[in-house]
Amino acid sequence: MGVLYTAVQHAHSGLRWIVLVLLVAAIGRALSRRSGGTVYPGKDKLALLGLISVHVQLLLGLVLYLWLSPYVRFEGNVMADPQIRFYTVEHFAGMIIAVILITIGYSRAKRQAELNKGWKTIALFYGIGLAIILLSIPWPWREGLMGGWF
Ligand code: HEM
Repeated sequence: MGVLYTAVQHAHSGLRWIVLVLLVAAIGRALSRRSGGTVYPGKDKLALLGLISVHVQLLLGLVLYLWLSPYVRFEGNVMADPQIRFYTVEHFAGMIIAVILITIGYSRAKRQAELNKGWKTIALFYGIGLAIILLSIPWPWREGLMGGWF
């Protein structure tokens, strides 16, 4: 196994925790500000950090997907092996959808500056994105995927 592969894989695996903490924090703040009746300032630090973290994860994921990972294949019977299918199709599709939703949420909320509605937009789009991310992570308890904790 190459040094580069090991480094990128561990960075991608470990960064999941930062992504999860930032998304939960951004959603929590959005929900509490919204119920407090506060207007959305047009930019929220936590929402921005959450957005950046998923974009970094997207970049690392693409490097693994296109070049490094032995679990991604584009020829042969991709669907027959559960682990190959998971990374080539399911993890990829789920995470791309989640990143798109979070990006849409952030930019839509930006246009709702000075409205209470912006907080709801963050909570909704980040919330659905987080749910999809949680479902698409190869958790150690998911059989046949051999995912780790870090
Ligand atoms: C927020 C988004 C994402 C999160 C939280 C996430 C999380 C993870 C985690 C936890 C693993 C398992 C690592 C391990 O146990 O060693 C993994 C593996 C992987 N991810 Fe992601 N991922 C995300 C997005 C993406 C995207 C967008 C792509 C592709 C474009 C991608 C491609 C991969 C690949 C190819 C692997 C397998 C690496 C290997 O072990 O060879 N990921 N991801």
